Amino acid sequence: MRHLQDHKPWFLLVLVITSSLVQLSCSKNQNVLDRGASLSVKDADSNSLISPDGSFSCGFYGVGTNAYWFSIWFTDSREKTIVWMANRDKPVNARGSELALKKNGVMVLKDVDGTNVWESNSTSSGAVKAEILDTGNLVLRDHRGFIVWQSFDYPTDTLLPSQSLTKGKKLVSSLKKGGFATGYYNLYFDSDNVLRLLYDGPEITSLYWPNPSFDVFQNGRTKYNSSRIAELDNMGRFLSSDQFQFNASDAGSGIKRRLTMDYDGNLRLYSLDNLTKVWNITWEAMAQMCNVHGLCGRNGICTYTPYPKCYCPPGYEISDQSDWNSGCKAKFDLSICLKPEEVKFLEVPYVDYYGFDLNYTRSVTFKDCRKLCLEDCRCYAFSYRLAGEGVCFTKGVLFNGVQTTSFPGKIYLKLPKNLTLSGSVLPLESGANCKASEADVKVGTASMYDIEFKKVKWAYLYSFVSTIGVIELLILASGWWFLFRKDDTPARVEDGYLLISSQFRGFTFSELKKATKKFKVELGRGGSGTVYKGILADEREVAVKRLGDIFTGNEEFLAELSTIGKINHMNLVRMWGFCSEGKHRLLVYEYIENLSLNTHLFSSNFLGWKERFKVALGTAKGLAYLHDECLEWVIHCDVKPENILLDSEFEPKIADFGLAKLSQRGMPNSEFSRIRGTKGYMAPEWALNLPITAKVDVYSYGVVILEIVKGIRLSNWVVDADNQEPEVELARFVRVVRRKILCGEESWLEETVDPRLQGNYSKSQARKLVEVGLSCVEEDRNKRPTMATVVQILLDCEDDRQ
Ligand SMILES: *[C@@H]1O[C@H](CO)[C@@H](O)[C@H](O)[C@H]1NC(C)=O
Ligand SMILES: *[C@@H]1O[C@H](CO)[C@@H](O)[C@H](O)[C@H]1NC(C)=O
Ligand SMILES: *[C@@H]1O[C@H](CO)[C@@H](O)[C@H](O)[C@H]1NC(C)=O
Repeated sequence: MRHLQDHKPWFLLVLVITSSLVQLSCSKNQNVLDRGASLSVKDADSNSLISPDGSFSCGFYGVGTNAYWFSIWFTDSREKTIVWMANRDKPVNARGSELALKKNGVMVLKDVDGTNVWESNSTSSGAVKAEILDTGNLVLRDHRGFIVWQSFDYPTDTLLPSQSLTKGKKLVSSLKKGGFATGYYNLYFDSDNVLRLLYDGPEITSLYWPNPSFDVFQNGRTKYNSSRIAELDNMGRFLSSDQFQFNASDAGSGIKRRLTMDYDGNLRLYSLDNLTKVWNITWEAMAQMCNVHGLCGRNGICTYTPYPKCYCPPGYEISDQSDWNSGCKAKFDLSICLKPEEVKFLEVPYVDYYGFDLNYTRSVTFKDCRKLCLEDCRCYAFSYRLAGEGVCFTKGVLFNGVQTTSFPGKIYLKLPKNLTLSGSVLPLESGANCKASEADVKVGTASMYDIEFKKVKWAYLYSFVSTIGVIELLILASGWWFLFRKDDTPARVEDGYLLISSQFRGFTFSELKKATKKFKVELGRGGSGTVYKGILADEREVAVKRLGDIFTGNEEFLAELSTIGKINHMNLVRMWGFCSEGKHRLLVYEYIENLSLNTHLFSSNFLGWKERFKVALGTAKGLAYLHDECLEWVIHCDVKPENILLDSEFEPKIADFGLAKLSQRGMPNSEFSRIRGTKGYMAPEWALNLPITAKVDVYSYGVVILEIVKGIRLSNWVVDADNQEPEVELARFVRVVRRKILCGEESWLEETVDPRLQGNYSKSQARKLVEVGLSCVEEDRNKRPTMATVVQILLDCEDDRQ
């Protein structure tokens, strides 16, 4: 006691300081605004409400000195991440603007001149206080504590966990990156109860998600639940009443998340990294950005370079350099109706404009389709594709242009005959070759305008793939049921497999045993299994692959197969079916006549130049399809001459794709924990333990085309005379060729190409192949081109003879 008495003045001082500190922090951390109180822009920092656990803040968010928004944001994120705004389209001025909870229970935002910029519709509700909750919801409560108004009912572009999206509510994107004004992309429940993404722009409106080419059922949705409610829970699971659902790739509790309708038309789920305070994408709706409608505006075409970009077709130019949404304008007068003799049509391959057809005609010849457009003043282009029969679409408006190598048709632009076309058709033509880095590609093409897209993480892609996998597993399971019901007649079996896919079916083991005459004729043997020749009951020749023990797990096996079975490209060996019975796992492929590339390259029976180029191009097309165009993103992981089969016309067909997917499943932790591949063709990533991306195939492809040019195995080990160290032939080859090119030795090409061709080859094609090959085998995978880029480059010199 004495002790304390002695120090009494000090003790009191400490007490005073502490209590004032407590008061200060109380006023800073308040989460309630009482009736009659207000928040002002002045001292914006101390004038905000903070939720009890500190997650969310609510107050004025300012840009510059003269624009303020009454908003809610994540307190923790590195940059203030706004999740709600009262006045997104009408910022208030700095000094004197204030938000008040008035005596009548209405929350009002007043600008400096006294005008009401925004108010809550809570008149006569008797609201006595406003409160920011830990969920990020700003609520008004009456004297009994009941919520009479909440910001969760008026979302802007973001949905938070436990906030529900219901009938009449929508998320609307911002107009620009970093801006807040209302933009054009919407997430909402459509009148048929389906959750959709809509581009609602100044000129057009267009639905783009789920895939508008499929119906509701095919997209895995239902129209029959009219409750129209969707919600993200605290574990990162999203569930919608139309049966759409997904999980965050980091599903689990304790992570802050938001679902945002982004300015670029993609709907993304983000998780906050609690160390770096930045947002990671853990799910997104659009795997392929070019399928977002309205992105490139009127007449614009979206292409992958590999990142999505917009460009203008020949005869058109950019409307507004600063705004890609505004698209391209014609260099000629569109209002003049061209007479048939004044018209020329320009063919643009791999391009389609989605929607806005003047008419759609089936079973029509190209000539008639052309005539339809020629004679119709409203027609600016037509699309023609052969899908068994000729299909013709004439277009009155050109929107939603996409260029992908998987598109089977072409667009024909109607242009005045006297219009001179300058520049290139494809965005990649000028200056872009395999060696060009991304930056070069951007600079090299004047008519391209950039879209700043986010690079999607692989983690996300795999989560996406697995979501699809689940849906497909269900579909497959129903097909399976048809297939193996005991009382099935063969006709029923046919029905059943039609449900899965028209080409793909299950076989019984005894069926395949019979087809291969008890596995008599062996065609080849590899890491994944042995291949036998067989003849099916319908007399089709097949190659049957018996898989080794690594392919276990029936459900995963079936799920992956349903993906692989849908892959269909002329440069990929077609899979016709499979068998999964007890321990047996077999795959049934089309039989390819002409052996694999190695037997046509490293033997006396070697290919001529024309065939070699054809093989290089076809293989690139097949890989590009696997990598980019299928949603599933299959990485081959074992590209080599042995896996490139040639048909009777020497058209290459890639074999063994999708097996990496089949075997990696069931391995813990990593999608690619098992090394797959063949020495000499494997990218350095495998050894360096880096994540495996599609760029490993680009590397292997590079080795293959260099071998095609040189005509010898570059994947063999050799001992160099100079340094006596064993190394892969390829390393020496690359070093030598690079040096010769650098030193400007004119003869480098001649010394590089297979001497057995005796000079019978196209110099420009050979040069391109070597250039492409060298850039594909870059150690740094970021310097390697994508397969889609390779296809473009090779297509450009396809017709060169010199
Ligand atoms: C406020 O508006 C919403 C719809 O916009 C309505 O459901 C609600 O009843 C309104 N509240 C009041 C108190 O008027
Ligand atoms: C409709 O969806 C809601 C929300 O997902 C669900 O609770 C309800 O059971 C569904 N109703 C029917 C009939 O399926
Ligand atoms: C960060 O998040 C992880 C879960 O992702 C959690 O286990 C960890 O405790 C969190 N750390 C902090 C400091 O909150």
